[in-house]
Amino acid sequence: MSEAKTYRKHVFVCCTEGCCGARAGEAVYKAIRAELSESKITDVLVTKTQCLGLCPEVGATVVVYPDSLWYVVSKAEDGTEIVRECLIAGRPVTRLISQEISLETHRKATSS
Ligand code: FES
Repeated sequence: MSEAKTYRKHVFVCCTEGCCGARAGEAVYKAIRAELSESKITDVLVTKTQCLGLCPEVGATVVVYPDSLWYVVSKAEDGTEIVRECLIAGRPVTRLISQEISLETHRKATSS
């Protein structure tokens, strides 16, 4: 019996059609997958998701767990930077971190 696969990080990329997906989500999802593959990183799981409740006016939402980092991305290169800095080097990409949300405010916004 093979061992269960474990992941160091889990990245959620909002690809909601007509919102994040159309603005940058799909392009960033592909960029993150490509950069992970190129870097031979196999312990990071990347998942397309529907609305995460942030819905930025510009760009798309990316969340990295277990760090609870909420990013707003606007182009494919942002995804590449998240892989290189956040997922490989272990440094949050501060310029992309959402200024509008923390986990607590997100919980309040989605609990009603
Ligand atoms: S549609 Fe992406 S966070 Fe809401």
